[in-house]
Amino acid sequence: MKIVLDSANVEKIKAGLEIYQVLGVTTNPTILTKEKRDFFPLITEIREVIGDKDFHIQVTGSTCEEMVREAGAITACVGKETFIKVPTNEEGLKTIKTLKEKGYKVTATAIYQVSQGVMAGIAGADYVAPYYNRMCNEGIAAADSIRQMASLFKEHNLGTKIIVASLKNADQVLQSFAGGAYAVTTTPELYREMVESALITETVGRFKEDWEALYGNKRIYE
Ligand code: E4P
Repeated sequence: MKIVLDSANVEKIKAGLEIYQVLGVTTNPTILTKEKRDFFPLITEIREVIGDKDFHIQVTGSTCEEMVREAGAITACVGKETFIKVPTNEEGLKTIKTLKEKGYKVTATAIYQVSQGVMAGIAGADYVAPYYNRMCNEGIAAADSIRQMASLFKEHNLGTKIIVASLKNADQVLQSFAGGAYAVTTTPELYREMVESALITETVGRFKEDWEALYGNKRIYE
């Protein structure tokens, strides 16, 4: 079970790295729009902040040739170990195959169907990224799809890992892991929700009050 930060906000990434045991960072063009910054300086700064942790960056071209050129420009900037996120359609499969032949790391993204995941796995993708909440919005059984993908990858010894994206609540995260996902990627806000609530705050506060009633300002480390 690994967690990844789905964000391009440098301050949020820095804060997330201090709290959570994260595998890395994922971005997409929609996430980048929130930052309103030039692309290359932004990904350079994120790479500096995360060091050698995994970094997944999406291409935007519509042809294999464009996406391969984008992959070259991205990795020239932030390193060849960066995962190139490629949408999983026919042109994307061609791109995944080409990028793998050239030694790139690849994350197949925009996955709504088990069949996409399987085709991306066969093409050699390192990761597939099913979109949990977007699947739910389309009436697709996300948890079952993830479970089926995980079981097929295992049964056929594909090295492809599942990183579930588009997660909107803790239950979706837990269902992803229960279904065999290797990793999930979501916002720092959702990770916070997973461990912070009024109930937890109240409980921790009560322990502090009880300690102080007994020992006043004395600290354990004194
Ligand atoms: C990962 O980077 C995915 O693109 C992202 O999680 C999609 O999330 P959304 O459905 O909230 O846009």
